[in-house]
Amino acid sequence: MPVITNIQDLKRIYERRVPRMFFDYTESGSWTEQTFRENSSDFEQIRLRQKVAVDMSNRSTAGTVIGQKMTMPVALAPVGLTGMQHADGEMKAARAAQKFGVPYTLSTMSINSIEDVAEHISGPFWFQLYTMKDTDYTSRLIQRAKDAGCSALVITLDLQLLGQRHKDLKNGLSAPPKLTPRTIANLATKWGWGIEMLSAKRRSFGNIVGHVDGIDDPASLGAWTAEQFDLTLDWDKISKLMEQWGGKVILKGILDPEDAKMAVKVGADAIVVSNHGGRQLDGALSSIRMLTPILDAVGGDIEVILDSGIRSGQDVLKALAMGANGTMIGRSYIYGLGAMGQKGVTTALEIIRKELDMTMALCGETNVANLGRHNLLIPEGFEGRWQD
Ligand SMILES: Cc1cc2nc3c(=O)[nH]c(=O)nc-3n(C[C@H](O)[C@H](O)[C@H](O)COP(=O)(O)O)c2cc1C
Repeated sequence: MPVITNIQDLKRIYERRVPRMFFDYTESGSWTEQTFRENSSDFEQIRLRQKVAVDMSNRSTAGTVIGQKMTMPVALAPVGLTGMQHADGEMKAARAAQKFGVPYTLSTMSINSIEDVAEHISGPFWFQLYTMKDTDYTSRLIQRAKDAGCSALVITLDLQLLGQRHKDLKNGLSAPPKLTPRTIANLATKWGWGIEMLSAKRRSFGNIVGHVDGIDDPASLGAWTAEQFDLTLDWDKISKLMEQWGGKVILKGILDPEDAKMAVKVGADAIVVSNHGGRQLDGALSSIRMLTPILDAVGGDIEVILDSGIRSGQDVLKALAMGANGTMIGRSYIYGLGAMGQKGVTTALEIIRKELDMTMALCGETNVANLGRHNLLIPEGFEGRWQD
């Protein structure tokens, strides 16, 4: 087993272990992938201020987001098809998160169902909702998440239409999958992954199959999901969903200051400043660049979580120091899961916490709560000078 010291190491093992079509599904953005690339490269532009002669003995990375205490302010983001990266992937990622003391978010488009995850772990998790045209189905999903004791509803707002990722089309990644000769040849080489998959609890969308009338085979599932995302989702509908849920709500996919103000207006508890990891609007600015204008717009009236592009504890530190209350990671934990299952997710979290803790110390801070802009060197014009 190679020595694993950073997230990129996990990615290399993941790439070897998992069928190409699922690796590509993770490792791509929409269209030209500009936003996908810039999400990470923009973090590199921000530098850190080194501080010395500070007592670094009692350090803490612990944080609180929406009233929930966590060992570090990093939640696992909702990721569709996680259970295809590793057998029972959602159950394993949820357990790793729970043991580590950070929130796990289950996607609507997961392989394991809400009930599978609830049975597998003892604490609460967050549930991510895609609103569907079938309003009865959406209501039942909300009720199922309530019954499972989910502690927050994460409503994703940036996917009323599915961004096009060229690799997915070429690999035939759709529901049902269109298996090309290249895909079949590649699947045949991934026997470690395949053997484990044979014993997986599920291999299809666990929150849908068995919960919608007439969806019982891959073809009917494909037809249903292809036309189900609700194109008419607006702020009125969001308010109604929030009412229906009645608990903590996080609105995910906010990248514009005016939208952030609307999130405050409808009474959400938090927003996720996100461009869906560069998978939706290609050409949008990176989340880290949009963070300051959004923080300025909401002025502390709502908690702000940031995702898209985080690949290290240094990235987490930069987001927190710029003013985010918390962060989410997507690909960083999926690399770990695909590489080594639950242990890989734990490894990803350990790597990020160690990097966050050491970087914080070298910046002369002992508690993530004290991080601020004074720890950063932000290039002039980082947010960009765009005409109105
Ligand atoms: C493979 C993949 C699948 C995703 N599926 C979902 C999803 O089902 N629901 C959702 O709200 N976001 C989804 N996202 C977006 C993530 O929640 C998160 O916003 C994104 O991964 C953050 O960027 P990062 O991967 O660079 O950390 C997905 C992201 C990836 C990479």
